[in-house]
Amino acid sequence: MKILVIGKGGREHALALAASQSKLCDQLYCAPGNPGMAKIGKLVNIDDSKIDELAEFAQNEGIDLTIVGPENALADGIVDAFESRGLKIFGPTKAAAQVEASKDFAKGLMKKYNIPTADYQTFDNFEDAKAFVLEKGAPIVIKENGLKAGKGVTVATDLDMALEALNIAFEIEGNSVVIEEYLEGFEFSLIALVHGENVYPLECAQDHKRVGDGDTGPNTGGMGSYSPVRAITQDLVDTAMESIMKPMAKALCEEGCPFTGFLYGGLMVTKRGIEVIEFNCRFGDPEAEVILCRLTSDFVQNILDVMEDKTPELTWTSKTSHGVVLASTGYPASSTKNAPITGVEDVDGLVYHMGTKMEDDTLLTNGGRVLMVVSLADQLEEAMAHTYAEVEKVKCDKLFYRHDIGRKDLKNA
Ligand code: AMP
Ligand code: GLY
Repeated sequence: MKILVIGKGGREHALALAASQSKLCDQLYCAPGNPGMAKIGKLVNIDDSKIDELAEFAQNEGIDLTIVGPENALADGIVDAFESRGLKIFGPTKAAAQVEASKDFAKGLMKKYNIPTADYQTFDNFEDAKAFVLEKGAPIVIKENGLKAGKGVTVATDLDMALEALNIAFEIEGNSVVIEEYLEGFEFSLIALVHGENVYPLECAQDHKRVGDGDTGPNTGGMGSYSPVRAITQDLVDTAMESIMKPMAKALCEEGCPFTGFLYGGLMVTKRGIEVIEFNCRFGDPEAEVILCRLTSDFVQNILDVMEDKTPELTWTSKTSHGVVLASTGYPASSTKNAPITGVEDVDGLVYHMGTKMEDDTLLTNGGRVLMVVSLADQLEEAMAHTYAEVEKVKCDKLFYRHDIGRKDLKNA
């Protein structure tokens, strides 16, 4: 089969690696890909936002299956464009991608179908939003509508912080915000392969969203992760499947926009039970990097089975994976580019490229999150120690990383 992976980050590198290891994969293409993906597939120089050009390429090249990484392409209708040409693509339509692209749509569905989540209200103007925040008090959570790469959420611990977030949100004309009750608990990510009402969970992972050690500083796209999550028992996964993931897939069918693809549940174990923090319409990043390297079954076969309404045979290594993101100085507020990176070849483990470019044989930083180093070991402790030793081998004076990825699970072990 000819397989095309859309996207250029670490998640797509992980999707591409898993696809390349499939018996069914004869030729892998990555559009536009990155220097890491260049080692496993053929790079196609079409940006992931150029939907029509991508569909044209897939048709001319006779691509048998396309796997989509980024939410923007999905929210812009890449699946609709491919399907209208009769091309096989694994991802949600534009309508189903609203589960991530519109916080208001997602919260509305959760309310309508009794899927547990924080109480909320949506506002399209500063004055009403401010009045609501003053009435409710802090802590309170402000979420801008639309796709924000994990950065449009403010967990405001005091009123000043909440009002500042509203000020920033309403600087953008036509913007709206969802204001949510603050929830407390243990977070984890549950990603499922979905086709209509059929929902198959992958192994869980835990992301670390804040930029600083000890969960301090602003939210990011994610600074590191590990899988499995010992604190999340099979019972909790079963509960999440029955009360959240399956009802959401069913709700999307009932609303006339059935979901196909990776449905991401950002979940929290609270005092009231498991509740939804957010849904995403694609694989998580940095979750893909630690989950897919544990999959021992044939990833492409698994996807094809799901699309044909057959139960996929998902098998996993019992080893724990652990990964640390190296991000550019200044991330998430800003990021530096073009800083040379050396030592990647010396790392004993997996190195996923998240934001790099190659110029004249020199690897350079090219974005906020740059690289992710992942190791596998029998226990989390071992994997953690290994990753942190290997991260030291990557040399670049414009990169930093968190030092405590995985610590929370150790406390829960
Ligand atoms: P989101 O992009 O919606 O996943 O939010 C990013 C992060 O903000 C989450 O991973 C949580 O850590 C935090 N967060 C979001 N919503 C809430 C909430 N209602 N209560 C507490 N923390 C939240
Ligand atoms: N790691 C969080 C996300 O992919 O949204």
